[in-house]
Amino acid sequence: MRAWVAFIPLICSLTVSAAEGVKPSAQLTVELADGVHTWTTAQLLALPQAQTIKIPEDVSYKRAMTYRVVPMAVLLKGVNPEQHLQAVATDGFAAEMSAGPLLATEKTGSRAWLAIEDPSKPWPELGKDKQTAGPFYLVWTQPKAGNISPEQWPYAMAKVRLLASVAERFPVMRPDPALAADDPVNQGFAIYQKSCMACHRLNGAGDSQLGPDLNHPHSPTEYFAAGYLKSYIRDPQSLRQWTQAKMPAIPASVLSDGDLDLVIGYLKHMAQRRDVAK
Ligand code: HEC
Repeated sequence: MRAWVAFIPLICSLTVSAAEGVKPSAQLTVELADGVHTWTTAQLLALPQAQTIKIPEDVSYKRAMTYRVVPMAVLLKGVNPEQHLQAVATDGFAAEMSAGPLLATEKTGSRAWLAIEDPSKPWPELGKDKQTAGPFYLVWTQPKAGNISPEQWPYAMAKVRLLASVAERFPVMRPDPALAADDPVNQGFAIYQKSCMACHRLNGAGDSQLGPDLNHPHSPTEYFAAGYLKSYIRDPQSLRQWTQAKMPAIPASVLSDGDLDLVIGYLKHMAQRRDVAK
């Protein structure tokens, strides 16, 4: 769930092939401990595990959708549930995810699937003048069971890679190491990784470029007057409006009031830790 940012190379390549009426063939890169695996659309559709599933409430299309999919677990052989993965989209959106939920195969819980757009049967566009969610899109059955947030449905996926945890990769995003693991600030850091980091950097660190840095040079907890920061996160357009704005509204069904307070607590704490980034 995110707005499209102009992605010039993709748009160009689609324009070229649109003239011929055929979508370019796509390739998914999966970087694991044993090396880089590349999968073409045709290879994925030919896997014995390929199947058709229905997603009753699709996060990107906001309606029921039916897809050809393969279980994510098939593409993540050798990955442990404790490990950390990142899904990178063609527009710079980068979702941070723990491997556990992506590997889960129980029928009763949340399950992750790679939806594959067949170029001969393209999906609908995500909006007027927008692309489709393809060529690859991470979708979930029973997302509520695993508390899967909209940011964990990356579309236009280009790459999945095994990485060290966010705290290891970006020490300047870490709260004060003296805090207990279950301190509210550390809980807020976990929510930040799940709900905000796919678009924002903090203290200059992160892999995404979609939104502004949330601590450098200043923290929004410092320059938003009381109350406005919460209403902004809930609905950015409620505060100021322009047509190109890209931050989605984050309703309570996605981020509870308690979790919103925790994430703001983390941002406030980090406003005191700008010096660690120097
Ligand atoms: C899908 C991408 C996306 C996600 C997820 C996202 N943001 Fe944003 N955010 C943006 C973009 C892009 C902007 C710049 C304004 C715009 O284009 O809407 C922004 C702007 C902001 C601003 C305003 C900063 C300023 O000085 O104007 C704040 C504060 C903010 N985001 C906080 C958050 C927090 C906290 C979260 C997580 C709970 C979050 N955002 C999740 C994309 C995102």
